Amino acid sequence: MTDVKKIAVTGAAGQIAYSLLWRIANGDVYGPDQPIKLSLLEITPALGATEGVAMELLDSAFPLVKDIEISDDATKAFDGASAAFLVGAKPRGKGEERSDLLAANGKIFGPQGKAINDHAADDIRVLVVGNPANTNALIAQHAAPDVPADRFNAMMRLDHNRALSQLATKLGYGSDEFEKMVVWGNHSATQFPDIAFAEVDGKKVADLLDHDFYINEFIPRIAKRGAEIIEVRGKSSAASAASSAIDHMRDWIAGTNGSWRSAAIPSKGEYGTDEGLIFGLPCVAEGGEWKVVEGLELSDFQKERIAANNKELNEERDAVADLLK
Ligand code: NAD
Ligand code: LMR
Repeated sequence: MTDVKKIAVTGAAGQIAYSLLWRIANGDVYGPDQPIKLSLLEITPALGATEGVAMELLDSAFPLVKDIEISDDATKAFDGASAAFLVGAKPRGKGEERSDLLAANGKIFGPQGKAINDHAADDIRVLVVGNPANTNALIAQHAAPDVPADRFNAMMRLDHNRALSQLATKLGYGSDEFEKMVVWGNHSATQFPDIAFAEVDGKKVADLLDHDFYINEFIPRIAKRGAEIIEVRGKSSAASAASSAIDHMRDWIAGTNGSWRSAAIPSKGEYGTDEGLIFGLPCVAEGGEWKVVEGLELSDFQKERIAANNKELNEERDAVADLLK
């Protein structure tokens, strides 16, 4: 039998995990032939609720799930893990920016990064979902010097999927018909959903979309969609976040056959970004690794928007300098 892969999920009693765990248990990360072990990490007061989540997972009788562990100890939760979804963190409320969460959430990610460094399997891949995701991923990655830096990602895939879906609705195509969409930068209101390279049905999206609509409606709608969901739903997005987290991890492992995705990965200085920042970039996945799409010509407008994200991520990095030592 194939070896069992351990997949860790933090914030296992929270609302994102309540969707995410069922997709993982269904085999949506490693595929239908890979048996898995689920590791649920929570804070101590939430262990009872986590037990309930585990009971419901058991009651779902997923054939691929060979074991379910619950813990409030990161060293146990990540021991031998090949994939980790770092979801556990406080969500923002109405009127807050994601960066307002940095003080409360940032300190979660250093100890988890260290536990991953010391205990995870050699093939560990980490996707940070908890906000502010890019800088939390940076904190976790800094605490894990023995793990290759590029194994720490933050999630831009929800922004990417939101952009595809809005384009599909506006232009009357399926969301899967669009190629070369990218959301650059930070998972914040500064993010840059960029259609300059996007194509559909052999046509340039920029030729199909009214320029004023693109600048004044499309970009802010994607960038502020998280706040819109909070306003309308009363809670931050959960099922869509879980679905996008699955998309990210599955593509990272299985590859994208040359198709572009938006993934926040450690910058190597591409396109004017500062090396080391966890930056949303145009990527393809191949052989279990993200590769940044090379050789793109950028307009002044694109360079300005990317620079604004670079500045913001540097400011976030400065704000958590104490956690990066
Ligand atoms: P939630 O409050 O429903 O659940 C969070 C859970 O994390 C809680 O059960 C809490 O007990 C747990 N937790 C807190 N600290 C922990 C720790 N140190 N270790 C383990 N677990 C811990 O929140 P949610 O709606 O599931 O959202 C979780 C995070 O994901 C938030 O920060 C939210 O803003 C973020 N989010 C990110 C994206 C994205 O695109 N990156 C999308 C949606 C939500
Ligand atoms: C989202 O984009 O929906 C999440 O990051 C939650 C939020 O705070 O907006």
